[in-house]
Amino acid sequence: MGSVEDFPDRAMTVVEVDGTEVGVCRWGSEFFAMRNRCPHQGGPVCSGFLQARLAGRCTAEGVEMEATPGEPVILCAWHRWEFSVRTGESAWDPRYKVRTYPVDVDGGRVLVRVGRGGRDG
Ligand code: FES
Repeated sequence: MGSVEDFPDRAMTVVEVDGTEVGVCRWGSEFFAMRNRCPHQGGPVCSGFLQARLAGRCTAEGVEMEATPGEPVILCAWHRWEFSVRTGESAWDPRYKVRTYPVDVDGGRVLVRVGRGGRDG
C-alpha cells in the first residue's frame, strides 16, 4: 500500500486496491480504511470532509459543540451524510454503512486487507 509517511495525518488518501477505490485515513497513530462508495447514492464518500465527530448539547445560552478527537468522521462529498471512519456507520441511520477494511502497520508499511476481511455495510 505504502509507507506510513505516504499518508498525511488527519487526511483521507484514496488508493486503488485490486480495482476497488479505498480511502485510507491516518488519524494520529491509527489507520482506517473504507470503500470509496457511499451507501446513500454511491457518491465518492472518501473525497468528502474529514473531521473529529462533533456533539452538541443545549444550554441556556444556546448550543455548545464539542469535538471528540478520537472519533474521526467523514462527511460524504455529495450530500454530506456523516459516517464513522472507524466503523463505517452512518451517524443517524445504522442501516447505512460504508464498507470498512482492516489495516495493519508492519515495519513502517501500511497494509489494507481488501476482500474477505472487510465489513460490509
Ligand atoms: S451519496 Fe453520499 S450522502 Fe448522498
